[in-house]
Amino acid sequence: MKILVINGPNLNMLGLREPSIYGKNTYAELCALLHGWADAMDMEIEIFQSNHEGMIVDKIQAAYDNFDGILINPAAYTHTSVAILDALKAVSIPTVEVHISDVNSREEFRRHSFVSLYAAKTIAGYGFDGYRMGLEALKEILA
Ligand code: DQA
Repeated sequence: MKILVINGPNLNMLGLREPSIYGKNTYAELCALLHGWADAMDMEIEIFQSNHEGMIVDKIQAAYDNFDGILINPAAYTHTSVAILDALKAVSIPTVEVHISDVNSREEFRRHSFVSLYAAKTIAGYGFDGYRMGLEALKEILA
C-alpha cells in the first residue's frame, strides 16, 4: 500500500511557527514519526512538502497510477484552493485530510475547507497524532 503524504505551505516551519497552536516539534520530527508509523502499519510512504499551490497540484497529478492513497494537510490552501480540490477529483485517489490544529475552533475563515468536499475523512485538532490517525483511516478505506 503506497501512500503520498502532502504538506502545504508553512508546515516546513513547524517548531518555529506559532508553537502555541502547532506545538514545539519540528517538521523533521513529524516526518520521522510518519516513517515510524508507516513502517509499523506496513505501509510505504512518500512525504512531500511545498509552499506552492501549483507544485502541490503537479504532485497530485503525478500520483495517478503511482499511489493508492493520499494523506494531505493542505495548510492555508485548505481554505482557498479549488485547484487542489479539482486535482484530487481528477486523479480520484482515496484521500484523508488532516490538520494539526482544530480549525473549527479558530477564525471563521478556517471553518471552510475545499478539500473536505472530496476527502473521505477529515481529522483536525489532534496535533501530529492526527497524521497517525490519517494513515490508519487510509488503511481501513483501502482494505
Ligand atoms: C493547518 C490549519 C490551517 O488553517 C493553516 O493555514 C495551516 C495549518 C493545520 O494543520 O492546523 O497552515 O492546516
